[in-house]
Amino acid sequence: KPTPWVDVSDDDSLGKQNGLKRKNPNNMNGHHEPSANGHKKKKRRHSLLSDDGLQHNDANGAGQPKKHRINGAGPSTPQGSKAKAIAEQRQQLPIAKGRDALIEEIRKNDVTILLGETGSGKTTQVPQYILESGLAKNGMIAVTQPRKVAATSLAARVATEQNVPLGSLVGYAVRFDEKSSPETRIKYLTDGMIVRELMSDPLLSNYSVVIVDEAHERTLRTDLLIANLKKIQKARNNPSDPKGKGKAGLTNPLKIVIMSATLDAEKFSRFYHNAKILYVKGRQHPVKIYHCAESQLDYTDAAMRTFFQIHTDQPPGDVLIFLPGQEDIESLQKSIDLYAKQLPADKLEVLTCTMFAAQEHSQNNKAFLPTPPKTRKCILATNIAETSITIPGIKYVIDTGKCKEKQYLARVSGGGFDTLLTRDITKSSAMQRAGRAGREGKGVCFRLYTEDAFNGMALSAEPEILRCSLTASILNLKTLGQNLEELDLMDKPDSDSIASALKTLWLLGALDNHQKLTPDGRQMALFPLEPQYACAVVASKGYGCTSEVLDIVSVLSASSKLFIDISEQRDAVAEARRKFRHSYGDHLTVLNAVRAYREIAASENKHARREWCRKHFLNERTFLEARDIREQLVVTCNRVGIDATVSAKEDEDSIIKSIGHGLAGNSAFLQPDGSYKQTMGQTIVKVHPGSSLCDKKVPAIIYDELMYTNQIYARGVSSIPKSFFLSLSAFKQRKA
Ligand code: CDP
Ligand code: MG
Repeated sequence: KPTPWVDVSDDDSLGKQNGLKRKNPNNMNGHHEPSANGHKKKKRRHSLLSDDGLQHNDANGAGQPKKHRINGAGPSTPQGSKAKAIAEQRQQLPIAKGRDALIEEIRKNDVTILLGETGSGKTTQVPQYILESGLAKNGMIAVTQPRKVAATSLAARVATEQNVPLGSLVGYAVRFDEKSSPETRIKYLTDGMIVRELMSDPLLSNYSVVIVDEAHERTLRTDLLIANLKKIQKARNNPSDPKGKGKAGLTNPLKIVIMSATLDAEKFSRFYHNAKILYVKGRQHPVKIYHCAESQLDYTDAAMRTFFQIHTDQPPGDVLIFLPGQEDIESLQKSIDLYAKQLPADKLEVLTCTMFAAQEHSQNNKAFLPTPPKTRKCILATNIAETSITIPGIKYVIDTGKCKEKQYLARVSGGGFDTLLTRDITKSSAMQRAGRAGREGKGVCFRLYTEDAFNGMALSAEPEILRCSLTASILNLKTLGQNLEELDLMDKPDSDSIASALKTLWLLGALDNHQKLTPDGRQMALFPLEPQYACAVVASKGYGCTSEVLDIVSVLSASSKLFIDISEQRDAVAEARRKFRHSYGDHLTVLNAVRAYREIAASENKHARREWCRKHFLNERTFLEARDIREQLVVTCNRVGIDATVSAKEDEDSIIKSIGHGLAGNSAFLQPDGSYKQTMGQTIVKVHPGSSLCDKKVPAIIYDELMYTNQIYARGVSSIPKSFFLSLSAFKQRKA
C-alpha cells in the first residue's frame, strides 16, 4: 500500500532536493556542468516568501537582520523589540505556514514523519509548536541529535527564542554535559544519551513526545532508539499491554516524530505501520553545480585553489568548504590564511572560521556571526554543516566529496575493529552540501570530483548498525534485558559482528559463559565510557589505583587529543614530550602529563597555565574537558561503590594492569621477526609513529585503537608483561 504524502506547506510542490541543477553555458576554471542524468530532475518551485535576511542574526538570535555587529556587542534594541524580531523571524520560517496542519497531524497520529529541507525550521520550531499547542501535556519533549554540537547549539537557539535561560524550560543533555532542570520541557539530547536514559527509565515515561531528528543518518544509537520507541509506544499507548499503562501506571501516551531533510521516508513509514509522511517545502534557491573535469589527487590543495578562484573572480558572498575532518580543516585554514595575506589590498579581506565536532562551542559559534564589511568569510566544516546546522550567508560551496566514517573492519583482523576512514560521500550528501549554497539566494557549488565520480557514488550511506562495532550497544541492551538479535530493528546486523561483540564483552568480564550480564558488567554499563575503559575503571578497584585510572580514561574520552603534533616543529614537539615520557608507554605518559598539569594548575594563574600548555604542545582544552569528565566518572564510581580516591601512587604495574583488563582484546605479542601480531586475531599491527613506544620492542603491547591508513597502526600503546595474560585467563576461570 503506497504511503500517503501530505504537503503541509502552503505550496503543493514536492520540492525535495530541488534547485540543485541548472543549465549554464559558461565553463569555469576547469569545472563543467553536470549533464542531465546527473540528478533526477524534480519540479522546482521557489518559495513565495520573501528573502527576509533571517540568516543574518548571530548565534543568540538577537541581531536585527543584516545589521552588522562588531566585537560581539549586543544590539542596542530594547528587550521588547528584540523579542519581537525573533518572533518575526520564527513567523517567516518556511515551516511556520504549516504549523497548524502539522500539529493537527501529530495530534491525530502516533507516529509522524516530517521531511523538510535544511533550514526550514524543523529542529528549532517543531518542539516549540508542540509545547505551545499543549500537545505534550505535562510531559517533556525530547529532540534527539546524532551530534553533541548540534544538540547544545540548537538548545541554546531555542532557549533564546523562548526568551528563557538555557537549562530552564529548554535544556540539553549530551555525554559528560547536561543543562536541564525540573522545569525543562524541551530537551535536546544526543541519541546516545536517550538510549542511556532507557536504562533508568525503560518506558521513557518522562517524555510525551520523542522527536528523532536527522533520522537519515541512521546512527547506531538512532536505530536502537527507533526500535525501542516502537516497543515503548506499543506498551504505553495500549492500555491492555501488561508492560504499559497497567504496570507503570502511565497515563500519557507517547508520540513519535521522525524528522530529516533527506530520508527514505517510505522505509520509516513501513517500519512504523505505514505512518503518515509530511512534507514541508523549504526556501531553496537554485544552485549552479560545477564538477571538476578531472579527478583531483590532493583535495585540500584543490579546495584552496578553488577558494582563491572564487575569491578573485566571483562577487561577494561567503564560502563553505566541506572537508572530512579536523586535521584537513586546520591545515587548509593555515594555507588560506597564509595566501590571503599576500593578496592585493583592494581585494576583500578573507576571514576563515572552522566548524567540527571536537571544536569548542564558542569557536563553532563564530561561523554564525555576521561577516564584517569588505570581508569574505570562508568556513571550513565537516559534514556537521550538511544538515544539522545551517550557517547563514553562504553563496559558494566547495565540496571535496570526502567524509570520515566509522567503519568496522571485520575482515582485516580476527577480532575486527572500528576505524575512522576518509571516504567518498554519497549522492545524498553531495546534494545536501550543494544545497547549502542556495539558502538565501542563487548559489554556486564546486565539486572537486568529476561528474562520473558523482554518478558512481552510493545513493545514501549504509546504516551504522551494519558497519560499526556493536560492543557498547550490546552491553547497554543487556542491562535492559534485551538481546540485539531479538530487537525489531530497521536493519539487522550480521551475526559475525554480533558474535564478535559478545566475545569482546565476555573477555571484559561483562558477560558470563551463558552471555548473561555479570555484576561487573552491570557496573561497566553505568559508566558513560567505551566498555574497554569502563572495564579498566571497574578493574582498578581490585588493584587499588582508581584515581590514576580515572585520570587516564578521562583524557582518552575527551573529544580532542591531548598531545598536539605540529609537523613543522617536530623536534621541539619531541623534546617537549620527552618530559612526560614513561618507559611503559602512552597510557602512563598521559598520566605524567595530567600530574604535571595539575601541579601547574595548583600554583599558576590561567595565563601561565595556558603558556605552559602551549610550550609543551599540550591541548589545554583536553585537560579541562577531562577534568569535567573525571568529575562525572567519580559520581558513577560513588554510585556503584568504587572508592575513586584510592591511589596507587607510584605502583605503575597496577595501573597498567587495570588498563590491561580493558584492553586485553586490543593486544599483540612480539614475533621473532620483530613485528607484533594480535593475540586475538591474525593481524600484524605496527606501532604508530606518534607513540612513545614506536622505536622500542617489548614482548607484549596493549593499545587503545587500531588505525588503518596504508597499514594497520596501533595507537595509544603500552607495554605490559606477557604474564599478565596468563593471570587474566586464570582470573577469568576464577570468575566463571
Ligand atoms: O532543522 P532545520 O534544518 O529544518 O532548521 P532549523 O535548524 O530549525 O533552523 C531554522 C532557522 O533557524 C534557520 O534559518 C537557521 O539559520 C536559524 N538558526 C539560527 O539563526 N541560529 C541558530 N543557532 C540555529 C538556527
Ligand atoms: Mg534540523
